[in-house]
Amino acid sequence: MATAKFKETSPYVKPKPSPPEEDYLYNKYLEDIALKTDSRNDPILKLALFGVGRAGTIHLMSIISNARVELLYIVDDVESNWQNMRKYWHLKNVTFLNGEQSDKVFKDPNVDAIVVASPTYTHEDIVIKALKAKKAVFCEKPIAENRSDTVKCYEMAEKIGKPLFCAFNRRFDPSYSEVRDRVRRGEVGHVHMIKTVSRDSPLPTIEYLKLSGGIFHDCLVHDIDMITWVLGEYPDKISALVDANIPEIKAIGDFDTVAVTLHFPSGTIGMIDLSRNSTYGYDQRLEVFGPRGVVQAENEQPNSVRRQYDLQGSVTAPIWYSFASRFMNGYRREFDHFVDVVHGKAKSLVRSKEILAVSKIATACEESARTGKIMDLNWAKGELPDVQ
Ligand SMILES: NC(=O)c1ccc[n+]([C@@H]2O[C@H](COP(=O)([O-])OP(=O)(O)OC[C@H]3O[C@@H](n4cnc5c(N)ncnc54)[C@H](O)[C@@H]3O)[C@@H](O)[C@H]2O)c1
Repeated sequence: MATAKFKETSPYVKPKPSPPEEDYLYNKYLEDIALKTDSRNDPILKLALFGVGRAGTIHLMSIISNARVELLYIVDDVESNWQNMRKYWHLKNVTFLNGEQSDKVFKDPNVDAIVVASPTYTHEDIVIKALKAKKAVFCEKPIAENRSDTVKCYEMAEKIGKPLFCAFNRRFDPSYSEVRDRVRRGEVGHVHMIKTVSRDSPLPTIEYLKLSGGIFHDCLVHDIDMITWVLGEYPDKISALVDANIPEIKAIGDFDTVAVTLHFPSGTIGMIDLSRNSTYGYDQRLEVFGPRGVVQAENEQPNSVRRQYDLQGSVTAPIWYSFASRFMNGYRREFDHFVDVVHGKAKSLVRSKEILAVSKIATACEESARTGKIMDLNWAKGELPDVQ
């Protein structure tokens, strides 16, 4: 009876609480239930998808689950997969083409936008052709193999007046974007230290690594982007130490283990801990520390079950195994954002100057790793984006 005095009136007679902002899935569900029509009055965006491998399959799933788009073409050279792909995904009305036939896509006036998920070395050519044909472009990172080719792509987008969206999916992850929002609200004060841990899983194939453009432009760019995006600041000094502990990676002149330190003009220090091969799952963490406290995005697990048997302590599910599962929500949100950008309903959250700056920092990290030098980074007037 001791707690009887705390009894409250019925929840039915009290004001109904609103769902928390953090529950983005429930809030989206409420929109769906209410048939909120804001975005449903837009014309259906007609798409072509280039490349249906690891990344392309994720984007194919985003396309299929998005009621605002329709897929007209798939371009991929592995013709032996076409029939199964059509059957598996029920792609009755999709035309399949190989790379050599892709002009058909660029010439088709019905195609509004192109999603590029083919190997990095093919991006520039597809992006330029798509933009020249006045198509909007969603392109997997990196936009091109080096900074000068990336500049060419953005110049073409500017000239043609169509969006060129670089798919930095981590920005759309609910945990990482929550960290940024809190840091930008000043919750930790001036940031003294920002750290990322990115350990890839499973180990990519050597065939992929040979075409990947190297760990700096293939992997490290995600971490550089995350750090600069959270801080809204760009480093004036960086240094990188690297090694290749896996002989097959050493043999192709790439690295599997990278440590980068970054110094920022305001006094913030950044640290990146990167590996190609994590055997316990896809280890992705972000931590921001300042005089008022710390904000951390920890690893996530597929379920919350805790087991305890004998005297062995408690056991939980492993962390997500790979990018396809860990960032699934981020990929969906990223794609929906792109559709908003094409319809002019949102400004791209990923801006060209940010991408070019990330590419310049990645190149400096590679040079530091190969020469053993600390690299100064000089930024010309207007080179860096305005703080957002
Ligand atoms: N953001 C992310 O989380 C993420 C994850 C993985 C890969 N990526 C990026 O996605 C891109 C593809 O990587 P992946 O791992 O999916 O590679 P992948 O090798 O698994 O798939 C590439 C696909 O593209 C096809 N292809 C080859 N040449 C083509 C062409 N000219 N036109 C159309 N299709 C072509 C191949 O047949 C293959 O099916 C890379 O740029 C990579 O950096 C991003």
